[in-house]
Amino acid sequence: MTLPAALANLNGQTMPLDEARVPVLDRGFLLGDAVYEVLRIYQGRPWLADDHYRRLERSLEAVRIRGVDVPRLRRRVDETIAAGGFQEATAYIQVTRGVAPRQHAFLQGATPLEFFYVQSFVDPYVAARASGAAALTHPDLRWDRCDIKSTNLLGNVLAAQAAAEAGCVEALLYLPDGTLTEGTHTSFFGVLHGVLLTAPNSSAILPGITRALTLRLSERAGVPMREQTLRRDDLGQVTELFLTGTTSEVLPIVRVDGRPVADGRPGPVTRRLQEVYAVAVREFLTRPAPSEPKA
Ligand code: PDD
Repeated sequence: MTLPAALANLNGQTMPLDEARVPVLDRGFLLGDAVYEVLRIYQGRPWLADDHYRRLERSLEAVRIRGVDVPRLRRRVDETIAAGGFQEATAYIQVTRGVAPRQHAFLQGATPLEFFYVQSFVDPYVAARASGAAALTHPDLRWDRCDIKSTNLLGNVLAAQAAAEAGCVEALLYLPDGTLTEGTHTSFFGVLHGVLLTAPNSSAILPGITRALTLRLSERAGVPMREQTLRRDDLGQVTELFLTGTTSEVLPIVRVDGRPVADGRPGPVTRRLQEVYAVAVREFLTRPAPSEPKA
């Protein structure tokens, strides 16, 4: 079966992804003055869409990009998924502050550029989810507003590259005081003394949508849990570690910095959360699709 070709949409115009072009004076290109979202689409249906669009609105507001009709953007994404016949897919959405003569301040009102593309998703994490993957720790070189999902990702990019070069799926980022924050494109959880821990939401991490779902699911599954930061020197004592994210879902980490986590195999809490995560997706897919919102 051939997968549908990726479709892009630039300010309301649909086109093949490789035909989409952005003007070089766009502030997203020149200054990273932009925010984004990534959604997973299961069987043609966007997963946790309300949460993603709410976070997009929050990011836009936080950086004062105004005048974006997010419900219209959402309808366009939904129409593109249907028009392309996408089943297992992702949608990448980016809004920039738009085109303006280059200067840092955004004094005069540019029109925001609304861009997204939908492409088929061939899951690269199937094996890693089954048997676990390796991670390394890396200094967190980012800024003080990591709660905003902005395209300023150089700190994430360099750490992710260090991980890739070491044969690891992810870098776990730590601050100068040894506090672990999150992965370069994932949230993470650890089990320490029998309690599931993940960093509390703050400006040091992205409020991950899969993280929030995982917290709800662990509560429902009766897993003892607390929002509390792990420290780099806890890693020798954690009995389980896993990543969460839109495309990674719940992904066990079984080696950190070359050392096995416990016996080097995914642990029972991770397995339980993978199960309940899969059930949550299945339940979502068996629910009737909401009727089309009125234009
Ligand atoms: N990354 N932390 C960071 C820094 C992220 O970039 C992401 C998402 C997450 C997980 O968030 P969520 O569960 O909402 O996907 C945590 C996306 C997928 C990306 O940049 O591709």
